[in-house]
Amino acid sequence: MSKPIIILGIESSCDDTAAAVIIDGKLLANVVANQLVHKQWGGVVPELASRAHQQNIIPVVDSALKKSGIDKKDISAIAFTRGPGLIGSLLVGTSFAKGFSLGLNIPLIEVNHMQGHILAHFISDETKQHSPSFPFLCLTVSGGHTQIVLVKDFFDMTVIGETIDDAAGEAFDKAAKILNLPYPGGPLIDKYARLGNPKAYKFTKPQIDKLDFSFSGLKTGFMNFINNETSKNNGFVSENLANICASIQQTIIDILITKLTKAAEQTGIKEIAIAGGVSANSQLRETLMNKKSELGWRVYIPDFSYCTDNAAMIAITGYYKFLKKDFTTQSTIPLARYAMK
Ligand code: KG4
Ligand code: ZN
Repeated sequence: MSKPIIILGIESSCDDTAAAVIIDGKLLANVVANQLVHKQWGGVVPELASRAHQQNIIPVVDSALKKSGIDKKDISAIAFTRGPGLIGSLLVGTSFAKGFSLGLNIPLIEVNHMQGHILAHFISDETKQHSPSFPFLCLTVSGGHTQIVLVKDFFDMTVIGETIDDAAGEAFDKAAKILNLPYPGGPLIDKYARLGNPKAYKFTKPQIDKLDFSFSGLKTGFMNFINNETSKNNGFVSENLANICASIQQTIIDILITKLTKAAEQTGIKEIAIAGGVSANSQLRETLMNKKSELGWRVYIPDFSYCTDNAAMIAITGYYKFLKKDFTTQSTIPLARYAMK
């Protein structure tokens, strides 16, 4: 019997420090340390994120190794997020991975975070039902990105549409901030929206060419609307929170789904996946499930634990790179901007 391929994955691109262990493509452990320090500042403070990564990385890796029952000496390679992300945050994971690779004399594998979000669909664990077949379209929606990606193979990905300003997650978080909700506001808008009427308020949607997106105008329109209503009634937000959240959420989801539908029509692809933090949104998930019967799409929605940042997605990407012997060297450096090849 040949030796199993064991990959340790490291993710530190933003404000989550994460480590995961995968054996022959199957997930053994997935540990994420969230950084609560940013809550009080209403957004991620890069300097604080780097420091927290430095504190968290050893305990997180230790915990992932313990949970997996894997001995360090049996690890085949270490995969880490090279970018895109916050440079100080990326430096912590990159430096750790370089040291680990050098210390154990094992290959070092660099991973594009956005590619990782998409390949999260190929993580196999005890709950996994099925993965998309190639080619498929992936709507990748996170705090930093909003893209429609044509995925022809594990490493043949083309961005066919993307935001020209804010990301969808940013739109959620900025709307939440205007409502005085703590960071990150996306999950809270999702929670309050469940009790509200999505048709209560109308917000102007952007008219953007092709398959691209824009969310900055929506944010300004939303801020003006809230300021205007609050000037008439100081209690407007607290009295109507559920309806406001449901309406802004509906607008963001409509914008996303309209472009995704257009992309499916243009490419003729009915194999549709979503990825990234915003794919945890319950209304986006529900709307996509409805599209299944309406448009005959086959829809792939990641498990909640693989939507927001995690290292299982980095480890699985590392696994497929390992199969291709796509290794990097000690001279690699992290990249804040890092386009998918
Ligand atoms: O992928 P991710 O964890 O980090 C980045 O790579 O950016 O995405 C984080 C983003 C945040 O903007 C957060 O508000 C959003 O995902 N998010 C949500 C939900 N859960 C996380 N947005 C809407 N509804 C949710 N349930
Ligand atoms: Zn992400």
